[in-house]
Amino acid sequence: MKQFTYSKALERLPEQFFAKLVDKVKRAEAGGKEMINLGQGNPDQPTPPFVTESLKRAVDNEVYHKYSPFKGFPFLKRSVANFYKREYDVDLDPETEVAIMFGSKTGLVEVSQCFLDEGDTALVPDPGYPDYWSGVAMANANMEKMPLFKGNQFLPQYDQISEETLHKAKLMFLNYPNNPTAATATKAFFEETIDVANKHDICVVHDFAYGAIGFDGEKPLSFLQVPGAKNVGVEMYTMSKTFNMAGWRVAFAVGNKSVIQALELVQDHYYVSLFGAVQEAAAEALDNGEESVKELVELYETRRNQLVEGFRDIGWRVDAPQGSFFMWLEIPEGFTSESFADYLIDEIGIVVAPGVGFGEYGEGYVRIGLLESEERLREAIDRFRTLSFTNQ
Ligand SMILES: Cc1ncc(COP(=O)(O)O)c(C=O)c1O
Repeated sequence: MKQFTYSKALERLPEQFFAKLVDKVKRAEAGGKEMINLGQGNPDQPTPPFVTESLKRAVDNEVYHKYSPFKGFPFLKRSVANFYKREYDVDLDPETEVAIMFGSKTGLVEVSQCFLDEGDTALVPDPGYPDYWSGVAMANANMEKMPLFKGNQFLPQYDQISEETLHKAKLMFLNYPNNPTAATATKAFFEETIDVANKHDICVVHDFAYGAIGFDGEKPLSFLQVPGAKNVGVEMYTMSKTFNMAGWRVAFAVGNKSVIQALELVQDHYYVSLFGAVQEAAAEALDNGEESVKELVELYETRRNQLVEGFRDIGWRVDAPQGSFFMWLEIPEGFTSESFADYLIDEIGIVVAPGVGFGEYGEGYVRIGLLESEERLREAIDRFRTLSFTNQ
């Protein structure tokens, strides 16, 4: 068969680091090993029944069998605006300040296409969610890393970025609660971000994928809650984590009108909007999901407590995450994050995500997900207990 040459944009796409890990796990399982997978970010709970029931009802609505309106149904945009008002006391104009997207992965790649030309610069967190890199690479733009260090609560330090780089930057990606470090942002940090963005004309994209998941009674801060945020950027919010709807592919962007318009413009050319019945079920989740989200956060907090106590009990040093459904664990001496992840697979059948997969500053850590049952997490701790060393 003919092998056609890929476009340069496609050739530039970064390697999917975690595909290698998935292969390794499959091989180990094929060899008869029973694995506990703490390496992935796929929510383990089902979508709440009131949402799936809503989809079932909506599927028979013939209005939805036709093409959806290009920008999505106005009722979903209204539900988004009401959700932001209820949850964050943020006012949004549903028509001009909300864009409906096919999952936030899509939006995060599209936004680079909207604002970056060849040679432009984007600021990305390192460690960070790898899809930020994909859009920047496709646009043939440059990526400037903003290292996230424990000593600075895994927040970027703008005073460590040169004026020249800040001046060149057109886009900045941020993500709190953070994947992979589980850090949360402060109001002061967002205020500083807005100052930097205003001064240097940078468009801020705040990825709020774990916005619903905060612990110890602390609700993670929306970027849009901070005065001036709408002027300098957007927040992307996925239904995947808040409502266990990862397979449904529904997300939205909210905030700056020109960014919303750009996202809708690019989407007009790629797609017609999501299946109307999915939009109706998404609206149902946003309107009536408060209780189910509360239960989900309680579940993750129980698992977090269990893992933190479990690790401490067997002599491992861990910081209790404040948000997201991840823990960011320092690795023992003598390993790299990859060699430690391999070691855990081979020796105790535990899968974790090597920190280096999230960028060079992720080295020294592995990411652990809270996405297994309490029984399996207990078993995971028992397996760690059999190791003859810790990270102390
Ligand atoms: C930080 C972050 N952003 C975005 C996404 C993508 O979410 P989705 O494409 O399901 O909306 C994920 C998924 O794991 C994530 O961890």
